[in-house]
Amino acid sequence: MANTILVGGQWGDEGKGRIIDLLTRRADYVVRYQGGSNAGHEVHIGAKTYVMHLIPSGILHPGKVCVIGNGVVVDPIALLKEMDGLRKQGIRISPKNLVVSGIAHLVMPYHRLLDEGREDASKRHRIGTTKRGIGPAYGDKASRTGFRVLDLLKPAAFREKLARRVRENNALLRALGVRPLAAAAVAAEYLAAGRRLRPFIGDAVALLHTALRRKRDILFEGAQGAFLDLDFGTYPYVTSSHPTSGGACVGSGVPPHRMDRVVGVMKAYTTRVGEGPFPTEYGAVLGAEIQKVGDEFGRTTGRGRRCGWFDAVVARASVRLNGMDDLAITKLDVLDHLAEIKICVAYRLGSKRLDTVPMDADLLRCVKPVYETWPGWRASTREIRRFRDLPRAAQAYLKAIERHAGAPISIVSVGPRRDQTIFVNGRL
Ligand code: GDP
Ligand code: IMO
Ligand code: MG
Repeated sequence: MANTILVGGQWGDEGKGRIIDLLTRRADYVVRYQGGSNAGHEVHIGAKTYVMHLIPSGILHPGKVCVIGNGVVVDPIALLKEMDGLRKQGIRISPKNLVVSGIAHLVMPYHRLLDEGREDASKRHRIGTTKRGIGPAYGDKASRTGFRVLDLLKPAAFREKLARRVRENNALLRALGVRPLAAAAVAAEYLAAGRRLRPFIGDAVALLHTALRRKRDILFEGAQGAFLDLDFGTYPYVTSSHPTSGGACVGSGVPPHRMDRVVGVMKAYTTRVGEGPFPTEYGAVLGAEIQKVGDEFGRTTGRGRRCGWFDAVVARASVRLNGMDDLAITKLDVLDHLAEIKICVAYRLGSKRLDTVPMDADLLRCVKPVYETWPGWRASTREIRRFRDLPRAAQAYLKAIERHAGAPISIVSVGPRRDQTIFVNGRL
């Protein structure tokens, strides 16, 4: 299959887990390279539903090696809980099929509390984070005050540094009105987690370089989406990592020239969780309807997702930013009942027409979408398996997405199950 980076092209929850599940069949390694337990990737297999947060979705396929790369921020407590949960569902997890990079940074308890404290401090200024400590953990990494996974294996040094870090963070927690932490309790909890995780901790860079030498196929599983990227997204309403394809190199240690292909996943409409500008957001009635039909509730926090029309300005920017070679369009079936469907092809800002996403999130908040309206097909697409069998109107809608986004649609997904997939052109 060659080395493939799979990324979300919108604001997350595009169905990346579901597409990873399809592509894992032809991969040997599946690598998470950014984000943390803020992600929620759901996969349906038969009657079972699995949700992965930190563990690559490839774990559901026996015989594949899953890697949590250095670019991920690892909450060891959340990781162990996820491992236990998946095992209870019958998934085998051992150091043979899961490796955690020793140089990945840890999410500490004060990161979670700071994230929560900052979010709760001001309704007006909140980002709507998942409160998983992601921003503060990446902040410490950049400030060089973070802990790495390998630090869990050095108890004396861990305790000594933790005492200092807890003291400093307790001052911040107090300022936010949050109860401070006891370093000894944190150390006990984390070092115990370290003892359980020890067999899984390894040199993921060396492992992947051996895989490259042996011409194994590596699949990179992006979390979040391009418009949640720390640089390219709608700052500050973004996550603190680089979900875009460039992030896969720094987040794994695999160099750019070894990457062969980028697959972008986008919904046939748009969703967003949390605060931040969303030009094509539906009004209350259609918003509630699509939320219900599409089961648009976050798999990490349970929050209702905001829903809107497909934004081709965002899609086009995503195709360019990520270098998407192929698109996988998911959840076409959710639009099956609509009489007409819109695609935003440009924005209007005052008297100006914009064909690109403005850099400033405050401006994006002020734009008005310019829509193209397409007739709906009003028929179920859920059991269709060939592109040419789709209703004409659905084909036309997908062709319009392809044209406006500027990349070929190679997969169309018409339901959450593995078999509810249309492989369009033989490219994937
Ligand atoms: P991810 O974070 O990108 O992996 O996406 P999520 O798993 O958070 O959200 C996507 C949701 O849509 C999941 O509940 C999937 O089971 C579901 N899903 C994926 N593809 C389809 C599809 O084509 N149709 C429908 N109805 N649901 C889908
Ligand atoms: P997957 O991988 C959708 C959003 C949060 C919030 C912003 C910052 O399932 O697509 P954070 O906790 O990262 O500091 O929150 O990013 N967000 C996601 N939205 N899908 C995700 O992951 C998300 N991960 C974070 O809702 O707006
Ligand atoms: Mg998700």
